[in-house]
Amino acid sequence: MHGEVKPTDAALGAELRGLDLSKPLTSLEVELIKQAWLDHSVLLFRGQDLDDDALIQFSKNFGKLELSPASASATAGGQVHSQPEIWIISNVVEDGQPIGALGDKEADWHTDMSYVDEPPMGSILYSLEVPKVGGNTSFGNMYKAYEKLPAVLRDAARELTCRHDSSTTSVGETRVGFEGVWDVRDAPGAVHPMVRVHPETGGLALYLGRRRNAYVPGLELEDSEDLLDELWGHCTKPEFTWTHRWAKGDLVMWDNRCVIHRREAFSPRVRRVMHRTQILGDKPR
Ligand code: SIN
Repeated sequence: MHGEVKPTDAALGAELRGLDLSKPLTSLEVELIKQAWLDHSVLLFRGQDLDDDALIQFSKNFGKLELSPASASATAGGQVHSQPEIWIISNVVEDGQPIGALGDKEADWHTDMSYVDEPPMGSILYSLEVPKVGGNTSFGNMYKAYEKLPAVLRDAARELTCRHDSSTTSVGETRVGFEGVWDVRDAPGAVHPMVRVHPETGGLALYLGRRRNAYVPGLELEDSEDLLDELWGHCTKPEFTWTHRWAKGDLVMWDNRCVIHRREAFSPRVRRVMHRTQILGDKPR
């Protein structure tokens, strides 16, 4: 069996060396990856050479895949559809049409699709073209953020839920079919426990989704805003995070059940093309 796990020196993340993900993996290699993923929450594989079929085959080792919104038609949602399981994250515009989502702006801290009832458990992002400067992606460890909360806040958070706004993307754009939010108490989106139990590790993790338009049902608006500001200020401290500087051929997989992430802005004059798959998940509990 190949594969060596090298943890980062930060609060989460490990590099997995010695595996060629374009080839079928043995069951032992898949088990090694699954265990490393549970242990470190984010895994990096460098120097891979994957076409979309290989990315899909690799991703299917971890569960069923979510279909991209673009899969309904050739360019629906502004994304050029290659295969239904592939989500394109890119700033590139071809023939006047963006080929992917999120453009070149900063993507605020978030958890992928936490605004649906059963959010994807993991995301796998593979880099085809990356800028020399900017566009780095940071990850935050929500187990550690929960563990290090003052006891009073930890206890309060366990009793509360949070509504995760579905109207606005992580780069601040209103999604097709939604209206802008004027009062966060009316924002659309799923309500989840503020602290979730990871179904495989049993660990407790803060589960906040994204700050924009979030609301804590049952609290006065001002109290909800203050609490969310305090929790977000805490969980995004550098001591809980790790930043990845991308090179072409890097593949990063993260566990949405216990990780938040953020993407830096980059120059509109350079190209960034990433292909992503998302592994189906269950209802947070
Ligand atoms: C995302 O926020 O899901 C995309 C991350 C990235 O583009 O690095």
